[in-house]
This record gives sequence, structure tokens and C-alpha cells, in this order.
Amino acid sequence: MKIGIAADHGGFELKEIIHPFLISLGYDVKDFGAFTMDKGDDYPDFVVPLSRAIASNEIERGIAICGSGVGASVAANKIIGIRAALINDHFSAHQGVEDDNLNILCLGGRVTGFMTAQELVQSFLNARFTGEERHLRRLEKVHQLEIK
Ligand code: RB5
Repeated sequence: MKIGIAADHGGFELKEIIHPFLISLGYDVKDFGAFTMDKGDDYPDFVVPLSRAIASNEIERGIAICGSGVGASVAANKIIGIRAALINDHFSAHQGVEDDNLNILCLGGRVTGFMTAQELVQSFLNARFTGEERHLRRLEKVHQLEIK
């Protein structure tokens, strides 16, 4: 699975830990930046290119990190085809994929510890959308909002 990762300065430190962790798990990882710690950078500049790459099927899933994870999720969800959520617990990390076909996991680099973040990432990436009719029906209602 090809994975994208992006972070602003608030998520930079966590991104630099999650990126090699993903590689150690065997994933093909594309880093959308930031590539240096710059307290003046802005999360949309990294999260939106990641989101567009997922929307265009260049990559399958993404990890977006800012200080809280809030701005990253707000920005990502502006892109049609993106289903992003700020995740802080194990259940939501996998159920968000199973039921809601989540394609971007957002994390708060100033909120979630490194080990917890690694477990959330693994739970998210190991999960698969069930494709059950009720979930497809609900996602279709969400998709209609994108195209109207
Ligand atoms: C940047 O200081 C911070 O606002 C950002 O990383 C994020 O937490 C926004 O939601």
C-alpha cells in the first residue's frame, strides 16, 4: 500500500518518527513535507497536496499531522473524495475505515504520544472498508453533498 504523510511545524516531530516507522512496516511512503522545522509554515500547504494525491489515486491512504490534528482534518476534508478524521483512540482508528472508509488519519503532534500514534497508525492501516450496504448508502449521501 502506498502511503502519504504530511505535517506542519506542529506535527513535524511526530512525522519524523512515523515516516521511518511506516517504512519499517514495509509501506511505500511519500512525504509531502514539511521537510524542515519552520514555525512559520501553514498546514494547508502540506495537507492539501497529500489530499489531492489521494483523491487522484496516486496514493491510497494518508497520515496528516498538525499540532492538534484539527486544522489538518479541516483542510483535508475540503478536497472532494477525502474522508479525514482526527483520531485519538484505537476503536475509531479501525472503525473509521471499516464503516466510513476513512482515507486520511489526522493526528495531533502536540497531543498524541509517539507510541500511541504508532499504534493508531497501524490500526488505521490494517483496517479495510467492509463495503456493507448500509455503509455504502451513508457514504453515498455524503458524496452527494460533494457534487451538489
Ligand atoms: C500551528 O501552530 C497549529 O495551529 C497547527 O499545527 C494545528 O494545531 C492547527 O490545527
